Amino acid sequence: MSLPGVMAAAGVYWGYLGGILILLTGLCHGNSVERKIYVTLNNTAPCVRLLNATHQIGCQSSRNGDTGVVHVVETEEDLPWLLETGPTPPYMVLLEGHLFTKDMMLKLKGSSRISGIAVTYAKPPPPDGFSLDVPCPSDGFGLYTSDHGSQYAHCNGTVWNPLGNGFSYEDFEFPIFVLQDENETEVIKQCYRDHNVPVNSSAPEYPLCAMQLSSHMHAVTSTVTCMRRNSIQMSFSINPEAVCDSLIGYNVWSSLKPINVSGTLAPEDQVVVAATRMDSRSFFWNLAPGAEGTVSGLVTQLAAAEALHKVAENQTLPRNIMFAFFQGEVFDYIGSSRMVYDMEKGRFPVKLSNIHSFVELSQVALRNSSELWVHTDPVSRSNDSVNAEVQQMIQTLKAVSSGANVTLQEVNQSQALPPASFQRFLRARNIPGVVLTDHRESFHNKYYNSMYDTADSIRMKYPSGLSKDEALNYVTEAAQALSEVATVLAKTLYQLAGGNDTVEIKADPQSVTRMLYGFLVMSNNTWFQSVVRTDWKVNFEDHQPQYYVTASRSNLNTPTQLLMSVLANLTGQVVNFTKEQCQSPEKATDPKKELYEYFWVQGPLIENSTSRAPFCVRSTTHTHHAESPAFDLNEWGSTEYSTWTESRWKEIRARIFLVPSHEFEVITLALGIAVLLISLVATYFINAKADILFSTTEDSEVAY
Ligand SMILES: *[C@@H]1O[C@H](CO)[C@@H](O)[C@H](O)[C@H]1NC(C)=O
Ligand SMILES: *[C@@H]1O[C@H](CO)[C@@H](O)[C@H](O)[C@H]1NC(C)=O
Ligand SMILES: *[C@@H]1O[C@H](CO)[C@@H](O)[C@H](O)[C@H]1NC(C)=O
Ligand SMILES: *[C@@H]1O[C@H](CO)[C@@H](O)[C@H](O)[C@H]1NC(C)=O
Ligand SMILES: *[C@@H]1O[C@H](CO)[C@@H](O)[C@H](O)[C@H]1NC(C)=O
Ligand SMILES: *[C@@H]1O[C@H](CO)[C@@H](O)[C@H](O)[C@H]1NC(C)=O
Ligand SMILES: *[C@@H]1O[C@H](CO)[C@@H](O)[C@H](O)[C@H]1NC(C)=O
Ligand SMILES: *[C@@H]1O[C@H](CO)[C@@H](O)[C@H](O)[C@H]1NC(C)=O
Ligand SMILES: *[C@@H]1O[C@H](CO)[C@@H](O)[C@H](O)[C@H]1NC(C)=O
Ligand SMILES: *[C@@H]1O[C@H](CO)[C@@H](O)[C@H](O)[C@H]1NC(C)=O
Ligand SMILES: *[C@@H]1O[C@H](CO)[C@@H](O)[C@H](O)[C@H]1NC(C)=O
Ligand SMILES: *[C@@H]1O[C@H](CO)[C@@H](O)[C@H](O)[C@H]1NC(C)=O
Repeated sequence: MSLPGVMAAAGVYWGYLGGILILLTGLCHGNSVERKIYVTLNNTAPCVRLLNATHQIGCQSSRNGDTGVVHVVETEEDLPWLLETGPTPPYMVLLEGHLFTKDMMLKLKGSSRISGIAVTYAKPPPPDGFSLDVPCPSDGFGLYTSDHGSQYAHCNGTVWNPLGNGFSYEDFEFPIFVLQDENETEVIKQCYRDHNVPVNSSAPEYPLCAMQLSSHMHAVTSTVTCMRRNSIQMSFSINPEAVCDSLIGYNVWSSLKPINVSGTLAPEDQVVVAATRMDSRSFFWNLAPGAEGTVSGLVTQLAAAEALHKVAENQTLPRNIMFAFFQGEVFDYIGSSRMVYDMEKGRFPVKLSNIHSFVELSQVALRNSSELWVHTDPVSRSNDSVNAEVQQMIQTLKAVSSGANVTLQEVNQSQALPPASFQRFLRARNIPGVVLTDHRESFHNKYYNSMYDTADSIRMKYPSGLSKDEALNYVTEAAQALSEVATVLAKTLYQLAGGNDTVEIKADPQSVTRMLYGFLVMSNNTWFQSVVRTDWKVNFEDHQPQYYVTASRSNLNTPTQLLMSVLANLTGQVVNFTKEQCQSPEKATDPKKELYEYFWVQGPLIENSTSRAPFCVRSTTHTHHAESPAFDLNEWGSTEYSTWTESRWKEIRARIFLVPSHEFEVITLALGIAVLLISLVATYFINAKADILFSTTEDSEVAY
């Protein structure tokens, strides 16, 4: 073979190989590069797994996340494609918020063609209401059970949350996320329109837009199972890792007259308790705006506390007043059951026998005209002495409301109490007490424990064009109305504590409106900024805090820190302490260190400066550890106490990307193998003929 011949042969060969390479790069370019471009969805909230003594509820994905081709469901007509005809299952459903209903979910739940659901946040919220909680919240853990007041058990008589479909307590085998940001939803829809829309009902072509939802949960079956697994891990594993944790938080409490937290009250000391809850929930993790369900009562009670602390004679009242804010109440009364438990065990300065009477604020922002309803417990009222005291409380309430724009009315005496922390106290002792609400029978709240229970749902309206600081101080109608309720509450408490009805007590609409703004619109405001402790890493955000109670082992959550800061500001005094004295008063020779808490707060911004002027605030604001007694007692199967735990997880993630077809992937693989084989053959060929191909130039010259 002459050299030019060989060269030509080699040239053809290299050309051939190069051609394949170019062909492959060209083919792969469109897909494999794009395929690597994941777009992470940054504003989502997952549904996670929770467990109680006997069941698991919530959602989870498979270990590495579930993937499916995106299909947008905007009307019922989009369903057949999803459930029957679509050629590329499994599908990831992008469900319009207003279609997130029981009917729809039952259809989707049964189908193996669905790998997960991403729900959009409906704006405006569904007008007919939306509640995924059960119709009879915390059934079985309140006062009425088969052993006590059984004629009222299971909401026999009054169904409190008739709109509730109970989805929050069901178990889903696939991931469900909510998309909180319209713009992100639009990104997904655009991807869907560009790639997945069926043309003339023929199958769309690859590459398709796909979504992956990852929310794999470690715990299964029940709290009993997962806690047992935890304890096995703890005793046998070198590096133990729990699979679930109990839901946990802190109750907040304070008193009008300081109480020595190192001791217990004398038996003759009497305390009037004002109570409300401080948590909420929704179907999705850490999403719980709780405007009517939680914040309406919380803010009203804070305003009443402020009003009472302003009364000059308050330290000479015959009885003390205690303000309690309970955590974890939506999960079968975690906070109140723990307080009752600790009171019984003598681990709390106030004992059950010290409680003179109990006034609870439930949902109070949605009053029809000016009505405020008084609920009482028919079972305890069958005792004459208790009944007489309850009557007395109602008389007091009626008397003080006559001056205010509040029409106080009693519900039918044979009606049971609505869900309330007070039920846990009544379980332990017959305490005279009332629960105040805006509803006579079932809730006025159409969005009970859902993501739509927001400032809008309690009709908080601001004129447009207000700056942040103007909005903070703008007195809305909602705030005005709640301050009237707060005035009634404050006056009632004052008289129950033995005070004189001639004393002037009035809640301040200005502080009510600032609180509503901070707790429901924007925690990042100048007032909240100035009242928080400097050592608290509060997560100030340009939206409202979420009142969801989780299994977080870390210290106080953001709403608790905010609540305590505001409570201390409204009921405390500024004291002339240095930072060191304030942060560790036990070192200072303060004779009252057991009576007060000291907060070194950020203080207001100094004029024309970015630094703040911190100071020390002394108040009776205390925390109380709120973990269900079931975990103190290691009774994981308890039917007496809440047993809710939250599963642990490694990763929560939602993202979209383009997938190539299976055929394409197979072709890519086949071509890859082909190239490999050809290369091997080529290498062998080149090796074998190396002497000819790369022969020295000497020989060539000689040949010439
Ligand atoms: C989420 O954030 C990442 C990083 O900031 C960004 O690349 C991505 O585009 C965001 N996702 C969406 C849907 O905007
Ligand atoms: C656990 O939760 C499920 C679902 O809500 C409920 O049916 C069951 O009664 C609960 N178990 C206990 C012991 O409360
Ligand atoms: C969405 O995008 C629009 C226009 O880009 C912007 O004005 C709006 O603030 C964005 N909304 C959110 C919630 O980010
Ligand atoms: C869809 O069908 C219509 C009528 O059958 C036809 O005119 C149109 O070209 C089709 N479109 C595509 C993209 O095939
Ligand atoms: C608080 O109670 C403890 C224990 O009973 C006692 O030693 C202490 O002096 C009390 N403090 C005040 C200020 O009364
Ligand atoms: C109160 O309820 C009971 C039983 O539900 C009923 O018999 C009674 O008529 C009601 N009373 C009033 C005043 O509505
Ligand atoms: C009524 O309740 C009080 C206080 O709980 C109790 O001392 C009394 O014995 C009760 N009376 C009856 C008749 O049960
Ligand atoms: C209440 O105050 C009025 C006027 O200050 C006084 O006359 C009256 O005796 C007081 N009543 C009680 C029970 O202290
Ligand atoms: C809070 O508000 C201030 C002033 O309006 C602003 O500078 C800051 O960026 C905000 N912080 C957050 C986390 O939004
Ligand atoms: C409460 O906050 C206001 C406004 O920041 C401040 O003027 C006042 O001194 C504070 N009061 C207390 C007791 O912290
Ligand atoms: C505050 O305390 C410091 C020292 O502890 C003292 O010098 C100062 O006068 C006090 N100020 C007031 C207003 O009491
Ligand atoms: C803050 O700045 C304004 C305008 O620059 C000035 O009029 C004012 O005197 C300054 N205040 C202080 C306390 O320096």
